[in-house]
Amino acid sequence: MANSVTMLKIKTFADYQNEYKQSVENPEAFWEEKASHFTWRKKWDKVLNWNFKDYDVKWFVNGKLNITENCIDRHLPTKGNETAFVWESNFEDKPNRVITYQQLHDEVCRLANVLKSFGVKKGDRVCIYLPMIPEAVFSMLACARIGAVHSVVFAGFSAASLSSRIQDSDCKVVLTSDGSYRGDKTINLKSVVDEALETCASVTNVLVYKHTGASVNILSGRDIWWHDVVPQSSDRYEAETMDSEDMLFILYTSGSTGKPKGVVHTCGGYMVYTCYSFLNVFQYNPGDIYWCTADVGWITGHSYITYGPLLAGATSVIFEGVPTFPDAGRFWKVVDKHKVTHFYTAPTAIRALEAAGLNYVSPYNLSSLKVLGSVGEPINEEAWHWYNKNIGKEKCPIVDTWWQTETGGILISPLAGITKTKPSFATLPLPGVQPLLVDEKGNEITGNNVEGNLCIKFPWPSIIRTTFGDHERCKQTYFSTYNNLYFTGDGCKRDENGYYRITGRVDDVMNVSGHRIGTAEVESAINMHADVVESAVVGYPHDIKGQGIYAYVIVPSTQKNHDILRKEIIAEVNKVIGPIAKPDKIQIVSGLPKTRSGKIMRRILRKVAEGEISNLGDTSTLLDPAVVEEIVKTRL
Ligand code: PRX
Repeated sequence: MANSVTMLKIKTFADYQNEYKQSVENPEAFWEEKASHFTWRKKWDKVLNWNFKDYDVKWFVNGKLNITENCIDRHLPTKGNETAFVWESNFEDKPNRVITYQQLHDEVCRLANVLKSFGVKKGDRVCIYLPMIPEAVFSMLACARIGAVHSVVFAGFSAASLSSRIQDSDCKVVLTSDGSYRGDKTINLKSVVDEALETCASVTNVLVYKHTGASVNILSGRDIWWHDVVPQSSDRYEAETMDSEDMLFILYTSGSTGKPKGVVHTCGGYMVYTCYSFLNVFQYNPGDIYWCTADVGWITGHSYITYGPLLAGATSVIFEGVPTFPDAGRFWKVVDKHKVTHFYTAPTAIRALEAAGLNYVSPYNLSSLKVLGSVGEPINEEAWHWYNKNIGKEKCPIVDTWWQTETGGILISPLAGITKTKPSFATLPLPGVQPLLVDEKGNEITGNNVEGNLCIKFPWPSIIRTTFGDHERCKQTYFSTYNNLYFTGDGCKRDENGYYRITGRVDDVMNVSGHRIGTAEVESAINMHADVVESAVVGYPHDIKGQGIYAYVIVPSTQKNHDILRKEIIAEVNKVIGPIAKPDKIQIVSGLPKTRSGKIMRRILRKVAEGEISNLGDTSTLLDPAVVEEIVKTRL
């Protein structure tokens, strides 16, 4: 039944309340009905099996499908010649590329055939390290078509980060390009891949898309130019039959400890939930032009550039560039040029463009806009009002969408034009989502006008299934803090009307420009510098980035100038993680505040970084309280 997914749409607030009630009272019947609007090769035997204790969740048990058939093939009879994507280059004078659903089908099939010719089989992992070009989406879908598991790595991560991700999931093939453009910068991606692969024995082939024309090394037998094999391949590929619970992709994300972990999502539940949430949150209608500014390297790009919109048969803009190139009017120029109706971005971009001033907004006609979205970090009230007034002209609902890599899709958000919005509130849970607030001990905090740690008590279809290669870590991280609950790591308020406001992470994870970065990860990168003995990293409020990175570093044995040292430390972080983890402030100290048992008191470091030095709380348990005085005196 082509396009019956549009039947998934809620139309009024009363509908929402009714669906919500049904989804809690009888979740299985609720999701069974939603899933019935998709194309399955075999119907499931059971809607849900779940157990948060040993952590095991299965949706649409024994159902068979291929997600690409739902993203592409089912639209072909009615939408073959309609636009799936319009690509806007980093450079505004470069022509757009328009990709229809039929062309998407053909490109995905060609690439699927090439992957197959490399010996990639169902279940094998493929790493995608590409800029924001349509080939990134083709690559994800080609993997899904043959049943391979994609692991997209944001093309701003360093060779070391790329290598550790490839190693962790044993990828067989890497899909990349010669280079990428980001504003006025050109990055030679292939050379990053070459460096990464020096330590990755599992990779047998690298497919290289020619994008910037940069000169690259082609390692004979391993590296193959895209244009030498893809265009010649057949544009037909019968999609592999996948089990509902077969892996669809792995996406690495940072936590409070250790290396980034590979969050695993599976085929059936992820498909149903990303489509359902896309249609309902954005209230997308045929003919609308949707634009999500995220990168496909993050979960927002997976769920709301690739899968959700394609499942819904939408037309989307894919943008290669950055908000401030060639100037801070670029986003608005693109909205005007493509008559964008739905615009979805991160608060950090809104704040940066607000700071640039209205002269960058006023030349453009933004009257096509109907819905504005926000994602990735708390949106402060000022930014919310600026967005509402100057971009939405007070006629576009703002959907402040709260979710995570692990949730696969949006869990708490207004439905555009249906839920009454409130600045900086993500408002209400989507149907199927049962949030609750708990205190430190895990006791539920009931009633309204309360604050606590945000948990979810019942599985939704796109919940994380495992962390790749280490199920115990998944159990420990999300399901062991509180009994029988999924713990999000976020703090949250519930107001007098039951609206939710996410206040930020309560663990050692920072949110820098909407990017999730673990303090431990940055510390271990800093500690790689030969002169560094120890470091401690905390987040602090930053006007544009939301949070900045503040590093306290002990370097006892060097006479080096501190400015040189800081530059070297930043270079080290760039090398180990990538520029997104660059510390904003590096304070050189002679010691760190530690308890007698050797634990760093981060609470004190956070307060100093925030500038709240008048009330540092109890420091009597410290091994050496004098350290605090020094830290306060030399704070940046
Ligand atoms: O702290 C929350 C914040 O981003 C974290 C998830 O990061 P990540 O897995 O990278 O996914 C980001 C895109 C979905 C959350 O734990 N966060 C995300 N959206 C919001 C948010 N905080 C407040 N409001 C939001 N709308």
